Amino acid sequence: MTGRLEEKVVIVTGGASGIGRGTAEVLAREGARVVITDVNEALGDEAAKAIGGDALFLRHDVADEASWQSVIAATVDRFGRLDVLVNNAGIIEVADIENTTVEQLRRVLAVNTEGVFLGCKHAIPAMRASGGGSIVNISSTAGLVGTPPFAAYSASKGAVRALTKTVAAHCQQKGDAIRCNSVHPGGIDTPLVRAITPERTADDGETVERGRAIGYGEPQDIGHLVSYLASDESRFMTGAELAIDGGLTAT
Ligand SMILES: NC(=O)c1ccc[n+]([C@@H]2O[C@H](COP(=O)([O-])OP(=O)(O)OC[C@H]3O[C@@H](n4cnc5c(N)ncnc54)[C@H](O)[C@@H]3O)[C@@H](O)[C@H]2O)c1
Repeated sequence: MTGRLEEKVVIVTGGASGIGRGTAEVLAREGARVVITDVNEALGDEAAKAIGGDALFLRHDVADEASWQSVIAATVDRFGRLDVLVNNAGIIEVADIENTTVEQLRRVLAVNTEGVFLGCKHAIPAMRASGGGSIVNISSTAGLVGTPPFAAYSASKGAVRALTKTVAAHCQQKGDAIRCNSVHPGGIDTPLVRAITPERTADDGETVERGRAIGYGEPQDIGHLVSYLASDESRFMTGAELAIDGGLTAT
């Protein structure tokens, strides 16, 4: 039996940890040839080795344009094409609008928004040369509804939502078979979430389990949706925004 992503060449940014790592694992299981990128070299290397096969890790700062150019060139050099980009790398600052400094805002925008912008910009020519592709941008429920404790983060994720639709429309207008959709996770049990919810620690299994019971998802839950969006099964889908949040934004 072959996977739905057999032979597709995929880049997952921020793939060393959390949602990115879980997604890279799901995509590899579906037959994709996976390139994990991250600023965390030790964890990124470990993640690629755990996947095995021809999975590759590349050091990559998504906020840096030259870094994007070399990652895409290295991917095409190694695998001959680029079919899927998952713009997943992200950071958060916990501060409301009155207490967020301009420096904090710029730091978050540089990774979460400029990183996605640069990824789309540089992936499109490589995907066009490969005959088409799928870009999946990991936004957040904070890009759909107001989230007072995360002012900079919500601004960065709302921008990703709008940019996604613009990229989708751009590629259609150019006649490229390149789709672009945004995914909006709710609380997923990752190092990022554990860091901002100190009452839930990695060692506190009971608390974490209780957390899940009230609505935390797992990285693989996002990976399965990304797998669909990466595959040709979603060929009629572009410019869409998909909440995957255990119903958080339903009311
Ligand atoms: N966990 C959640 O509940 C949740 C909810 C909504 C959205 N998200 C989004 O999902 C994505 C992944 O989050 P996560 O929870 O897995 O976090 P995480 O901290 O576990 O993983 C993020 C990864 O991104 C990497 N990274 C950070 N800055 C980078 C940079 N400049 N260049 C390259 N890599 C960089 C980190 O090293 C890390 O490996 C983020 O965009 C986040 O905003 C997460």
